[in-house]
Amino acid sequence: MEHNTRAAFIRQMLKDERSIEPSPEFSYKAHLKSRQDYDELYRRSLTDPDAFWGDMAERHLDWYRSWDAVEEYDFDAPRPFVRYFRGGQLNASYNCIDRHLDGPRRNKAALIWQGEPSEEVEVFTYQRLHREVCKAANVLKSLGVQRGDRVVLYLPMIPQLAIAMLACARIGAVHCVVFSGLSAEALKDRIDDSGARVVVTANFGYRSGKILRIKGVCDQALAECPQVKTCLVVRRIEKRTTMEPERDVWWDDLTATASPACEPERMEANEPLFVLYTSGSTAKPKGIVHGTGGYLLYATLTMKYVFDLKETDIHWCTADAGWITGHSYIVYGPLASGATSLMFEGVPNYPKPDRFWEVVEKFGVNLLYTAPTVVRSLMREGERWTCTHDLSSLRLLGSVGEPITAKAWLWYYSAIGQGRCPVADTWWQTETGGVMITTLPGAVDMKPGSAALPFFGVEPKVVRSDGTPAALGEPGSLVVTRPWPGMMQGVHGNEQAFKDVYFPTPGRYVTGDGAYCDEDGYFWITGRIDDVINVSGHRLGTAEIESALVSCAEVAEAAVVGCPHPVKGEGIYAYVTLHEGVVVSDELRIQLASHVREVIGPIARPDVVHFAKALPKTRSGKIMRRILRKIAAHQTEDLCDISTLSEPSVVADLIRENERLS
Ligand code: WTA
Repeated sequence: MEHNTRAAFIRQMLKDERSIEPSPEFSYKAHLKSRQDYDELYRRSLTDPDAFWGDMAERHLDWYRSWDAVEEYDFDAPRPFVRYFRGGQLNASYNCIDRHLDGPRRNKAALIWQGEPSEEVEVFTYQRLHREVCKAANVLKSLGVQRGDRVVLYLPMIPQLAIAMLACARIGAVHCVVFSGLSAEALKDRIDDSGARVVVTANFGYRSGKILRIKGVCDQALAECPQVKTCLVVRRIEKRTTMEPERDVWWDDLTATASPACEPERMEANEPLFVLYTSGSTAKPKGIVHGTGGYLLYATLTMKYVFDLKETDIHWCTADAGWITGHSYIVYGPLASGATSLMFEGVPNYPKPDRFWEVVEKFGVNLLYTAPTVVRSLMREGERWTCTHDLSSLRLLGSVGEPITAKAWLWYYSAIGQGRCPVADTWWQTETGGVMITTLPGAVDMKPGSAALPFFGVEPKVVRSDGTPAALGEPGSLVVTRPWPGMMQGVHGNEQAFKDVYFPTPGRYVTGDGAYCDEDGYFWITGRIDDVINVSGHRLGTAEIESALVSCAEVAEAAVVGCPHPVKGEGIYAYVTLHEGVVVSDELRIQLASHVREVIGPIARPDVVHFAKALPKTRSGKIMRRILRKIAAHQTEDLCDISTLSEPSVVADLIRENERLS
């Protein structure tokens, strides 16, 4: 589509609010060819979940032993639980690698890695991946890692991250990947909470042409983690690295002599596969625990149906493997399906804003899965960056991380997909393990901006604050009324949080998101309704940022809210009151923002630090965040009810300062 035609198309579509049918050519070849195909499978998944999931598990995974029961759960028990395939035995690494070695997939590319420097590319066939994973598994064993032990992986987007994850899975160890953009303090907290004794890291990493001191950050964290006896270090860049002789060992040295054969452990389906930390409404991040059988089945099935995966596809999920999206759709989903997964170390706009399109063209990517923030930022760069590349290999476009506006959706669809590729919006969470609500490609009509319909076995509902069902079109809280195999199994070391956060009311899992449902049963996600903000698809707890701010000596009190941001979706707006006698200055503003960056990581750096004389509070002393959110968003006309405020003049002061800042 030419620029002018496209602009007209987007304008017209935005006006019409029409839905878009999948193209007949796509549907004809898709796994789900029609709305009836979807309806039929969806109905079966709800009416007889045991038969449905049992059948899917037999067909899609290899088991050492079959299960005694398919689905068991109780959301309302004092200790809620969910179990799939009890008594069944399998190994995730076997399912992701070994079972592909007997046939034609043996020499197929499992993982293609594109480094940030263009010339750095590595291809791991299934056979090669098998050797590397076995070696790494043997190294972990030689370091004393046993079944059930947690291992923290603090690695950038290099192949060793996927290899180390699969090596843990192979020996029954539980990986806890910590995003390599998080700070030393955040890493230390996660190491402590996980109870890991072994940490895997890299000496350096690349980001936007700069060299990151990954090992340096790790050293800083480990200085306060005496329980960690071994740190395994990948040599990403040939550059002097300080090694602690008692503690640090090189990955290369140990894998060089390790045996390339390692028998996989037979894991009971509900033994944990990994723990992944995520932010919630509490100041401390929670370690979300996922089991083996249910998770792997769910990742595999969603990979197949949501992305309409075909044997010859190259699938590129642009997320970092340090987050759930990478766990499920760079590593477990694609590899368990025997697909080719592209792993990319770089960023969308370095060295130029056409980096993504260059990579799509270079490898002939078929399925592209990225985030709305990326779509928005590339849309702003304009088409001169897209039109110079051949994007004809693309077959399907996916979106994840935050609501995608109709405008960004239509640009993605028309400028990148050329109107040929269905766009699958995918709503889900770290806790859900895999995609929950999506536009099943080929089968269902797309409505730009709507996440569309539930995946098999998923029964979402929108409810009011009193728990009664919301009417059509009425926004409310998004809950899920029954379990699905990808569902989290608990919060690491914190049973109470599992109950309190996710099952506060009987019979439902609470997502923390707001949504409404339209007359066609399509879900529209409106964003978080708890104290979590979504910055470029990264989840950040406002309580975490506040606790970082008040750890500064100058700060008396802090309240953090999200504010609209054109590229990041939400920005971070921090209201801060200072102790008596502290002088307000721009230096202090910068110092506080940098402090948060240091404590949590660059993604948490506040966009605005607003010094306030006082914060608006109720008579009982509760900070009124609703008002703070409105002021940050410049929506001050409808501040409506401020009568419950203890000191209404506070609000006028805040509005004045906000106007001055913007
Ligand atoms: C948000 C990422 C709207 C949502 C997989 C959710 C979305 C949180 C979408 C989970 C989407 C994710 N539309 N909102 N398609 N996808 N979200 O745990 O608020 O990093 O609760 O998992 O991201 O973020 P998490």
